Amino acid sequence: MPEYQTFEHDVLVIGAGGAGLRAAIEASAGGVSVGMVCKSLLGKAHTVMAEGGIAAALANVDDRDNWKVHFADTMRGGQYVNNWRMAELHAREAPDRVRELEAWGAVFDRTQDGRILQRNFGGHKYPRLAHVGDRTGLEMIRTLQDHGIHQGIDVHMECTVLSLLKEGDRVVGAFAYERERGRFKLFRAKAIILATGGIGRAYKITSNSWEYTGDGHSLAFQAGAELIDMEFVQFHPTGMVWPPSVCGILVTEGVRGEGGILVNNQGRRFMFDDIPDNYRTQTADSEDEGWRYTQGDKNARRPPELLTRDHVARCIVREIKAGRGSPHGGVFLDIAWIKQRLPNAADHIKRKLPSMYHQFKQLADIDITKEQMEIGPTTHYVMGGIRVNSDTQMSGLPGLFAAGECAAGINGANRLGGNSLSDLLVFGKRAGEFAAKFAKENKLGAIDAGQVDEVAHNALEPFERSAGPSARGESAYDVQHDLQEMMQDLVGIVRKEDEMVRALEGIDQLWKRAEKVIVHGNREYNPGWHTALDLTNLLTVSEAITRSALERKESRGGHFRDDYTNKDAAFGKVNVVLSRGADGSMQIRREPIPEIPSELSQIIEEMK
Ligand code: FUM
Repeated sequence: MPEYQTFEHDVLVIGAGGAGLRAAIEASAGGVSVGMVCKSLLGKAHTVMAEGGIAAALANVDDRDNWKVHFADTMRGGQYVNNWRMAELHAREAPDRVRELEAWGAVFDRTQDGRILQRNFGGHKYPRLAHVGDRTGLEMIRTLQDHGIHQGIDVHMECTVLSLLKEGDRVVGAFAYERERGRFKLFRAKAIILATGGIGRAYKITSNSWEYTGDGHSLAFQAGAELIDMEFVQFHPTGMVWPPSVCGILVTEGVRGEGGILVNNQGRRFMFDDIPDNYRTQTADSEDEGWRYTQGDKNARRPPELLTRDHVARCIVREIKAGRGSPHGGVFLDIAWIKQRLPNAADHIKRKLPSMYHQFKQLADIDITKEQMEIGPTTHYVMGGIRVNSDTQMSGLPGLFAAGECAAGINGANRLGGNSLSDLLVFGKRAGEFAAKFAKENKLGAIDAGQVDEVAHNALEPFERSAGPSARGESAYDVQHDLQEMMQDLVGIVRKEDEMVRALEGIDQLWKRAEKVIVHGNREYNPGWHTALDLTNLLTVSEAITRSALERKESRGGHFRDDYTNKDAAFGKVNVVLSRGADGSMQIRREPIPEIPSELSQIIEEMK
């Protein structure tokens, strides 16, 4: 029998980024007891990597903006495979969520007349991103955390959930371990909200930090919930490429929103070379017009650097592959050029992009007010995730909710920058509200001791395999490393059938290797053990991405196939759905997207 401590909460939130915190605040406001588990220290969340702003149609900078334009932009950015109801709720509710955040103490940048300032970002028709310099995600986390700790939420820090526990179909608890001491914890809860973020660590080059191993995706899937849209992974166009130790760290889109341009090693602004037809009427055709747009000229069109992320990332890859890249395998991002237009450019850059200025100065010895940055695409976000009800955020399993990046639907094939922060607020709140309601209507479920024993046994197995003089097996780091390399090379920005088939075979081998990893030492402070325990999640999401990407034989948004370079109308009508078969295997199917109501499709048509 494993030893463990038991905790009881009405609602348990797993994950303490923007979605988790907002959900916990709402559940607590609903009058139920709330526990929150976070893998890392409270406040350390990938939310801070959404630097450039929160997308919400406040219309403070351009009064033509409203929820309908935001909705249409989100649908077009997602190439129309979005869950239209989520896109509608998001666009309608985001402004209130931003104003609420302000009321809770978030200190936004201001317009001349004192309203929340909004900046341009890719794919958004009007300046829409409420921001705090280039530290918006950080300010959001700070505000939610300050507000949340006064709501009486119990926080379990540095604690990783290993498995959800079920009674029949219903999710009734979670089994976890403390990272510091290695002790087990059992959480009983009437409702559980997954808010664990993304999967970036399945790839070698990523803006995500070590926590983002697809835990929520995998926990839900292993428990029997469905995943959708897993083929859609977002490669943010601008991550650092040099020095190697910082490769992948995010360079905010805010740099381009403030006028930064992309150039190749011939000094050519290559984004002018490839403007998709559906964006031609909105895209500037001269350097001057693009600059005027970033300065708020309502008659100007957006510069090509602010096309959607999927497109910009592919253009960068094209330049690199054609030998027109920078010395360290990227291209150049130049904000210093604005000194030709602005007399006080250096001060302006430091004021609007303080983190970028320090990041490049300290990590790469580059002064971005004078020199170009070297950047390249970095795995940033997954559009796919746990299938949820659009209004309540409950998954197909009673009592299991999901919000934020680990839930799917709102973004379709590609997320617009800044929509993640508003997504966290809108759907975090909804998940909290409906989980609290569920908790009030249901009693605690029964815990099955057999399930607990099995999870604990599996978690400790790597130690047992290492016992004795004849112990054989490899380190979890080797398996993790090989997986990351393979996903980067074979299921990355540009995909093709034979490579993904190889990846699937590779994943199969890696599952077998993962079953044999050994861990030395004991349960206290043992990162080798933590890595071994992450492997199930990493392999589950990698397999989900690869199978879904093989299934979608077309190119759309974040999913680009070299062997099917065009969109296929038939695929524009379906989601790829993954479910767990009785034997534990991953079952795949295409499912029609519910028809969009005429009033919403009319909005899309009008905005075109
Ligand atoms: O570039 C950025 O600041 C990232 C924003 C986002 O992912 O929403």
